[in-house]
Amino acid sequence: MSQALSVPHLLGIKSLTESDIQLIFETADEFKSVINRPIKKVPSLRDITIANIFFENSTRTKLSFELAEKRLSADVVNFSSGNSSVKKGETLLDTVNNILSMKVDMVVMRHSSPGAPHFLSRYIDANIVNAGDGTHEHPTQALLDTFSIREKLGDVSGKKVAILGDILHSRVALSNIFALQKLGAEVMVCGPNTLIPKYLGNLGVKITSNIREALHWCDVANVLRIQLERQHIKFFPSLREYSMHFGLNKQLLAELDKPITILHPGPINRGVEITSDVADSDHAIILDQVENGVAVRMAVLYLLASIRQN
Ligand code: CP
Repeated sequence: MSQALSVPHLLGIKSLTESDIQLIFETADEFKSVINRPIKKVPSLRDITIANIFFENSTRTKLSFELAEKRLSADVVNFSSGNSSVKKGETLLDTVNNILSMKVDMVVMRHSSPGAPHFLSRYIDANIVNAGDGTHEHPTQALLDTFSIREKLGDVSGKKVAILGDILHSRVALSNIFALQKLGAEVMVCGPNTLIPKYLGNLGVKITSNIREALHWCDVANVLRIQLERQHIKFFPSLREYSMHFGLNKQLLAELDKPITILHPGPINRGVEITSDVADSDHAIILDQVENGVAVRMAVLYLLASIRQN
């Protein structure tokens, strides 16, 4: 296996090779043991400055990147658009170029526009990490999801993974589909027909709107939130009705002849897409995903910085 990533930026899973993903996993294994030691810090990125630029809300991704950067001893600056000069009409490129003038080496960016990090990568001299671009990709989420499946089940290859919920508005779904397929897993998506984009038919995934069919088929269910903030028309009659037909609950799991592993990228809407008894059960690895997120992001930052330093 190669010891370097094939790309200078992490813009999406689509642009990674299987070998890139395996290298990230093996590097994350090392960092996971580091962050479980009494001294959780290594000096790997001591001379690197990273800007976390968030134009959309975040809890997990923002904190996870910041912790990963600090565990690697990078210098970190944080920017949120809500209280910035973006409000005064500054363009994305001007904002980022101003930040880079302060000698920033890497940019972690979340933006509501699909393709925003790809655009930046063409114009600026810094490594870009996509922390979620609109409804397009969320590569580090898919890496931590698949890393967590590998940790729980030993391997991703050959596993059957159902992605349940609002596929249409989900960057997590698309990045997971790419990652799972590159690693040799089979993927099924399940949700109301109105929340399944037509292009999925070209991606080689199974499609159903019957949650029982998806649960009987899969080894792993990755449950997604309904993204009401991106829905400007009604895609289903009510949250109550959505929950009745597509919510994951204990009764549905009790009908299965095998245990399945439950993932959720967060934030959870308890009682809508998943009930609390399932989210908090031993089958759910939701907090393991969050823990693994720090190690996986350390691996991504470390490997991208290695390209920069060579
Ligand atoms: N999973 C995820 O992206 O969560 P945040 O929106 O809180 O970062």
